Amino acid sequence: MSYIELKDVSFAYPGGFLAVDHLTLNIEKGENVAIVGQNGAGKTTTVKLLNALHYPTEGDVIIDGMNTKDYTTAQVSRKVGYVFQNPDDQIFHSTVYEEVAFGPKMMKLPEAAEEAGQLCPADHRHGQVCQRKSL
Ligand SMILES: Nc1ncnc2c1ncn2[C@@H]1O[C@H](COP(=O)(O)OP(=O)(O)OP(=O)(O)O)[C@@H](O)[C@H]1O
Ligand SMILES: [Mg+2]
Repeated sequence: MSYIELKDVSFAYPGGFLAVDHLTLNIEKGENVAIVGQNGAGKTTTVKLLNALHYPTEGDVIIDGMNTKDYTTAQVSRKVGYVFQNPDDQIFHSTVYEEVAFGPKMMKLPEAAEEAGQLCPADHRHGQVCQRKSL
């Protein structure tokens, strides 16, 4: 069983537009994956399915054995962090490290907060959040 599993997942927006069409994808713990594609291909929609900002219209999203359909967004967000494309949508602190560490600190996971900080490229760790787009 992979840490993240998308099983034949489709997602349609309320107006009916089908943004994700029968996607199957497995991601192992510790694996770095880039999801690339042209504008409007469905990248953001796919990633929002991973932390239950969206729920599949068809198929299943399984995170560490949890089917997102059985959990709230808050519950799934304890497993899957998300940094928004537009920094104006999510700014809690002024430096990249503090911003990335905010979620784990709120969950009283200081080691995870430190680990999150280590994932920031050293050159950018203490940079201002407004420079985050360059990471
Ligand atoms: N709230 C919405 N309601 C209806 N359609 C939407 C909504 N959000 C996105 N879409 C449509 O779903 C498709 C996928 O959008 P998405 O934002 O996932 O693409 P993307 O690959 O992240 O694009 P970009 O490279 O521009 O970030 C697009 O055609 C978009 O117009
Ligand atoms: Mg996008």
